[in-house]
Amino acid sequence: RLRVLSGIQPTAGSFHLGNYLGAVRQWVALQETHDAFYMVVDLHAITIPKDPAELRDNSRMAAAQLLAAGLDPERCTVFLQSHVPEHTQLSWVVECLTGFGEAARMTQFKDKSAKQGTDQTTVGLFTYPALMVADILVYQAHQVPVGEDQRQHLELTRNIAERFNSRYGDTFPVPDPYILKETAKIYDLQDPTVKMSKSASTPKGIIELLDEPKTTAKKIKSAVTDTDTVIRFDADKKPGVSNLLTIYATLTGTGITELEEKYAGKGYGALKTDLAEIVTDWVTPFRSRTQEYLADPAALDTILIKGAEKARTLASETLKTVYDKVGFVPGP
Ligand code: TYM
Repeated sequence: RLRVLSGIQPTAGSFHLGNYLGAVRQWVALQETHDAFYMVVDLHAITIPKDPAELRDNSRMAAAQLLAAGLDPERCTVFLQSHVPEHTQLSWVVECLTGFGEAARMTQFKDKSAKQGTDQTTVGLFTYPALMVADILVYQAHQVPVGEDQRQHLELTRNIAERFNSRYGDTFPVPDPYILKETAKIYDLQDPTVKMSKSASTPKGIIELLDEPKTTAKKIKSAVTDTDTVIRFDADKKPGVSNLLTIYATLTGTGITELEEKYAGKGYGALKTDLAEIVTDWVTPFRSRTQEYLADPAALDTILIKGAEKARTLASETLKTVYDKVGFVPGP
C-alpha cells in the first residue's frame, strides 16, 4: 500500500468548504486504498499568536470535524501534530538542508509576512515550510493530498527529499502532490477570482461548515455571478458560476456537462436555490456528527492519543535512520 499524509490547521470556528472539497474529501476516499495519516497541525498554528484556551478548543474542534467528515480511526491514523515530537526533531535536520533564499521564496511566507510586517513576523513562520517537509518525510509518505495553495511547499518537500537522498543515501520516497484538478481551488463566493480563505475572504464569501444551515443557504443565494444569464462552465469568463458548478458537481457526483444541460434556459436563481439545498443537506448531518464528537471530549482525546501512538511508531523509526545517516552517535 502506498502511504499518504496530510494536515490541516486548527482554525477558530470551523473548516470551510474549500478545505473540505480541496483536501478532506480526498482524505476520506484515500483511507480506503492507502496507508493514511492525517493530522491537525497545532504546531503550525502557533506561527501566528494564538490564545492557549482557544487553540486547545480549536484543535479538538478540528479533530471532531475530521471524524465527522468521514475519517475512520479504524481505517486511518488521525492525530495531533504536537503529540508526535519527531516532527520537530526531523524539522531541524530539514532546516539545515534548506537554503535561506529557498525558504524566503515561499509565496505563503511572503504574503503573510508582508501583511504582518517584519516585527510581527516570527521565525516560526519563516521555518513553517521546513516543519511541513518534516511532517511528510517522517512518515516516508508517497502522496500528499492537498489543495493548489500547498503545491509550492510540496515542491520544496520533493527537493529536500532528493537532496537528503543524494547526500546521505536513499532514504525517502520523493512524494507526489495529490491535487485534484476540479477542486484544487474553491473560490470566494463574493470574489470568485480569489480562493476561499479564512484570512483573506469576507465572512459572506466563505461557507463555514459549522454555520447555521440558514446562513449557508443565504451565502449561496447571494454569491456573486455575472451579468450574463447562461449557466455554463468557463473559469476565465464566468468564475462565479463556474465555482458554483464545481461545488454542485462535486457534492452530487454529477458531471459539469450534465449540469449545463439540466440548467439550460434556467436562471442563476434556480441554480443557487438547488445548490443551497444540496450544501445544507450535506452540512446538516456534518454539524450534528461534529457536535456528537465534541460532546465526549474524553473519547475524542482517546482516539487522538491512539492515533499519535501509531504515528510515533513509524516516525521514530524514520528519525532513528535519519540521525544515524546524518552522523549522530547512537544515544540512550
Ligand atoms: P490549511 O490548513 O491552510 O488547509 C488545509 C487544506 O485545505 C486546502 N485548501 C483549499 N483547497 C481548495 N480550495 C481552497 N479555497 C482551499 N483552501 C484551503 C489546502 O490546500 C490544504 O490542503 N500547510 C498546510 C497544513 C500542513 C500540511 C502538512 C499539509 C502542515 N503540514 C503536511 C500537507 C502535508 C495548511 O496550512 O493547510
